[in-house]
Amino acid sequence: MSEDKPGREKAAARIENLRAELRRHEHLYYVMDAPAISDAEYDSLMNELKRLEAEHPELVTSDSPTQRVGGKPAEGFGKVKHSRPMLSLDNAYNVEELTAWDKRVRELAGLLPVEYVAELKLDGLSVALHYGPADGGGSTLLTAITRGDGQTGEDVTGNIRTIKSVPLTVSAVALKKAGLPQAFEVRGEAVMPLAAFARMNEEREADGLAPAVNPRNAAAGTLRTLDSKIVARRRLDLYAYFLLVDGEYWPQGQSATLQTLVSLGFRVNRNRKLLKSVEEMTAFIEDAEARRSSLGYEIDGVVLKVDAQATQERLGYTGRAPRWGIAYKFTAQSAVTMVRDIIVQVGRTGKLTPVADLVPVFVGGTTVSRATLHNADFIAGLGLKIGDWIKVERGGDVIPKVVEVIEDHEHPRGTTEFAFPAQCPECGSEVVRAEGEVDWRCVNASCPAKLRESLLHFGRRSVMNIEGLGDAVVQQLLEKELVSSVADLYSLDEEALGKLKKEVVRVDKKTNEKTAKSEALLGPKAIRTLLDQIENSKKAGLARLLMGLGIRFVGERTAEFLAEEFGSIQALEGASAQELERVEEVGPRISQAIIEFFSQPANKELVKRLNEACVEMEAEKKMRSTQLEGLTFVLTGTLPTLSREEAKKRIEAAGGKTAGSVSKNTDFVVAGEEAGSKLDKAHKLGVPVLSEPELLAKLGADITPRKPTEEEQS
Ligand code: IVH
Repeated sequence: MSEDKPGREKAAARIENLRAELRRHEHLYYVMDAPAISDAEYDSLMNELKRLEAEHPELVTSDSPTQRVGGKPAEGFGKVKHSRPMLSLDNAYNVEELTAWDKRVRELAGLLPVEYVAELKLDGLSVALHYGPADGGGSTLLTAITRGDGQTGEDVTGNIRTIKSVPLTVSAVALKKAGLPQAFEVRGEAVMPLAAFARMNEEREADGLAPAVNPRNAAAGTLRTLDSKIVARRRLDLYAYFLLVDGEYWPQGQSATLQTLVSLGFRVNRNRKLLKSVEEMTAFIEDAEARRSSLGYEIDGVVLKVDAQATQERLGYTGRAPRWGIAYKFTAQSAVTMVRDIIVQVGRTGKLTPVADLVPVFVGGTTVSRATLHNADFIAGLGLKIGDWIKVERGGDVIPKVVEVIEDHEHPRGTTEFAFPAQCPECGSEVVRAEGEVDWRCVNASCPAKLRESLLHFGRRSVMNIEGLGDAVVQQLLEKELVSSVADLYSLDEEALGKLKKEVVRVDKKTNEKTAKSEALLGPKAIRTLLDQIENSKKAGLARLLMGLGIRFVGERTAEFLAEEFGSIQALEGASAQELERVEEVGPRISQAIIEFFSQPANKELVKRLNEACVEMEAEKKMRSTQLEGLTFVLTGTLPTLSREEAKKRIEAAGGKTAGSVSKNTDFVVAGEEAGSKLDKAHKLGVPVLSEPELLAKLGADITPRKPTEEEQS
């Protein structure tokens, strides 16, 4: 493509302009938490830049905001030596230890000033970011390295680049103001925010994978993921706390260094303070501990650093840690206790979950007596036996977790190997473990536990939202044989609910005699409320109903995508695997589960009965695009933002077809980086070639409503 020079210059100027704007908005959004434009406005600037860069590939630079996510997955991670060792900190667990540390610091400091900077101890992984000279006098991110063993770490540059709070460039102006050379190093903590952690575990669970134990492990695993596209979706964050030049700390002192990092565009945790005494330290610690649960990310303590550089130098280092810093660790969020028994619970899908019955122990503010053990592999991995001593942890998400078996404790009652049951503990039916899966399942379709759990699930707030449908009510509905499927909920009436009972034990104050009496579980008012809630749930909508049906792997997001795409249960029921897999996030595993679900006569009957009960089964009609109807596409090379699978889905969702090889029947070849023989063939056959932005433009344009089907017309 040849182009006149002024056109190119104009594009280059606009590109620079867009990049500067996008960087400014990324900084406002991700570092300052103060967005100045809407997401849509941001996307539109980004799309314009993507389009211009696609038209002028020679103008693409690695520090452009479009280049956060690299094209190809990494082959592995290279090892890189640190400019100076990344040390750890000594710990203090109480005020006495803190006081002793302060005393020693003051002794060693002599006449030098002693003030401390208090920072939060973020529960993530420390990383080192190396910046080097960029054109125009600024700096650009060159390499990012994990801590590793402290001497040598792994090169995770591609993954760190996806973190939007990490600047890819630092301007010459900012460097000049800070008095910093173009080559410098920033160290900080990479963390996974709790919201991102919850979402990741939801997805893992839907995929039948064991959840990550805590955000720190999740962040570590994410940073070691080879595909930076996956890393980008996980939304890690990075807080900077050190600045180095040539392997030496920037000589301003800690407090001023943090300020400099802010001026360079890095995210620095705002919970920091310059302190003078142990009293001030304890106040800061108390405050941090009080706010711990509302921060949105995990912290496990407070870090205290001597502020002045000269004092730091005087204090120096012990073998593994600086004397000028200490980590105050919060009261244990973990505790040691004994496993009394392992109980196996049956879930609504028939999944058998082993749960540890613990000698009650106080952890992080509550008493814990149960903890999930996930599956047989988890127990085997821990090497856990009944009677073992274990360590339980309570993370930010409150669910207690068994993290390790304590080997060197005595076992007063001995230990017994746990054998996973060969029969369902609720109904005695056979249990099976499908190939490639970690879970055992009860095969009995009418296992009472499945029904109980399905009813509870159906009533959940995030599903059909029937608040009154709790444990006691469900238990009684089953005992009195009032329901044998969720559809039966809709035929309950006042008379039926009046039959639910509870046992009350009365103690005669004089004689101390106990008498058990059976009373109504629900009063007239509670019955009315429950019936109203059941009635209201009919309007919960298609997505929630899909979740409520309990189709395997269909969680909230997938249900929403399915509802949006298919619009009704009837349409979904008749869908083929191919049609299902056009939906975002639906792959062969989920499509199989959906087909399997609707192929069961009992489930067909359930849907029919829900329909008869007037439960809403349609979503608002989606405008369906047909703009690529009749066109065949061939994808080749690595596209800048879309994966091959995503591009294919989008083309198919717009009515187009994709093929594996180029022929005269091909309408377009979509080519990305390192496109090979398919591109050559396209040129040879004269098939038009599109870039990703051009494809996206085609997809975005001219969305026409779907034609009504015959059924809808009649
Ligand atoms: S300073 C030699 N500051 O805690 C200085 N570390 O126990 C060591 N950490 O390996 C790092 N928040 O992973 C520092 N504000 C903070 C921190 C922090 C979390 C982690 C870091 C380090 C460990 C030291």
